[in-house]
Amino acid sequence: MRVGILISGSGSNMLALVDGMQTGQIDATPVVVISSEPDAGGLAKAAGRGVPVHAVDWRENRGDRAGHDDAVQALLDEAGVDLVVCAGYMRIMSEAFVARWEGRMLNIHPSILPAFKGLNTHARALEAGCAVHGCSVHEVVPELDSGRILGQGIVPVLEGDTADSLAARVLRVEHRLYPAALAAFVRDPVAARRTPIAIFETAG
Ligand code: GRF
Repeated sequence: MRVGILISGSGSNMLALVDGMQTGQIDATPVVVISSEPDAGGLAKAAGRGVPVHAVDWRENRGDRAGHDDAVQALLDEAGVDLVVCAGYMRIMSEAFVARWEGRMLNIHPSILPAFKGLNTHARALEAGCAVHGCSVHEVVPELDSGRILGQGIVPVLEGDTADSLAARVLRVEHRLYPAALAAFVRDPVAARRTPIAIFETAG
């Protein structure tokens, strides 16, 4: 299975996935990493692991979502990608792009879906008074942050938490959940859809 990873930022989830693939925990090969931000920190990290990297600056196709996605698609085609994994990819994708990859595209979202779709999830979970918070790996469908959930990571919300401290705790469980969910999906997508993974992180 040839995996293409889409990022926009620091790429810590991408690195956890690349490491999982390169150590054999995930039966797949990372063949390309594409960033929508040219100065994303994740690009150097991926290159450091020997994965080919590209930047498709979203500003070059400002207001033309499909144009941006076409440029990304061309790079995915060139790399012979079978499965697309979004890892901190801060773009809403065009319907045609999503349709093209339906059943073969995953995303991680920093909340226990279906709660807190969209942005600022950590602040919203704090504001709502949640006792637990977390992350979800799901298949990508046209509706934002929806699609079949393949696994969730749960962390406690602690007294004195800020959005930043909570985000850091969630990110740690993201790094465990995403490789586990991708490994299961690559092994058997039907079974992975039927039996979601649950990971719990204690305080610390
Ligand atoms: C993660 O929390 C991810 O869930 C969210 O953005 C963050 C990306 O972090 N969408 P990184 O780029 O993987 O370090």
